[in-house]
Amino acid sequence: MARKALIAANWKMYKTPVEAKAFVDAFLPLVAGHTRDEIALFPSPVLLPSVIFAAKGSNVAIGAQNIHFAEEGAYTGETSVGQLIAIGGTHTLIGHSERRQYFAETDEIVNKKLHTALKHKIVPIVCIGEVLAEREAGKTAEVLIMQINGAFAGITAEAAAPIVIAYEPVWAIGTGKTATPEMAADAHKIIRAEVAKLLGAPVAAAMRILYGGSVKPDNATSLLSQEEIDGALVGGASLKPDSFTAIVKY
Ligand code: PGA
Repeated sequence: MARKALIAANWKMYKTPVEAKAFVDAFLPLVAGHTRDEIALFPSPVLLPSVIFAAKGSNVAIGAQNIHFAEEGAYTGETSVGQLIAIGGTHTLIGHSERRQYFAETDEIVNKKLHTALKHKIVPIVCIGEVLAEREAGKTAEVLIMQINGAFAGITAEAAAPIVIAYEPVWAIGTGKTATPEMAADAHKIIRAEVAKLLGAPVAAAMRILYGGSVKPDNATSLLSQEEIDGALVGGASLKPDSFTAIVKY
C-alpha cells in the first residue's frame, strides 16, 4: 500500500517570532506545488499563531511540539488541545524523547495525550525510540514493543487511522549519528508488526512510520527511499529553509 510520506520539522526551543516568520516566507515558495509528500512544521507554542497565519492556505501544516492530556485546568505552563485547535493547529508531536528525558513523560502520559489528540481530530505523531544502552544491550525490539503497547493502550483500530509514529533512536538525535537505512528499516518492521498485532494488519499497513535522528540533506535520500520509512522528523536540519527544502525534495 502506498503511504504518503510526511516530512516534519521539529524546531524545538529555537527561533523568535521574527525568525519564524522569515523562515515561512522563504520556505513556502521553495515548496510551492510540492504534493508528493505532506509537510508540517512544529514550532514552540509562542510561535504558533504567527506561523499558522503565515502558512495559511499553503501546502504546509502546522502543529504543536506537545499538548496536555486534559481538556483544560490548573496546569501552569501547559497548552491544551482546544487552545491549539482554536488557533488553527492540526498536528502535535507526542512523547518526544526530550520530553521523556527532561519532563518525565511516561508511556502512560503519552497514552493519555494520544487519546486526547484523537478525540479532537488532531493528527498525533507518537515518538518512540531506544537509548544507546538499550541498543547495545540488544534490547531495541523489547523497548519499541513496550513503548508501542504503552502508547496504544485502549486505542481501537477504528480510531487509529490518523496516528503517525516517529521512530527516533535517542542516540541519533542531535548527535550527527544516524541509524543506517537498514537499521531504521529493521526497527520500522518491528514497530509495524507490533501495530499489526494490536490493531490488525490493514491499520498497520496504512500507518506512517517516520524516521528521526540527524536526518540531513545528504542522508535523506538513502533513508527515505527505504520502503519501510514513510517520512522524517527533522530537528537541526529543519531550522534553515534551504536544508529543510532539500530534505522535503529528497
Ligand atoms: P535532529 O532531531 O534531527 O536534530 O537529530 C530530531 C528530533 O529530535 O526530532
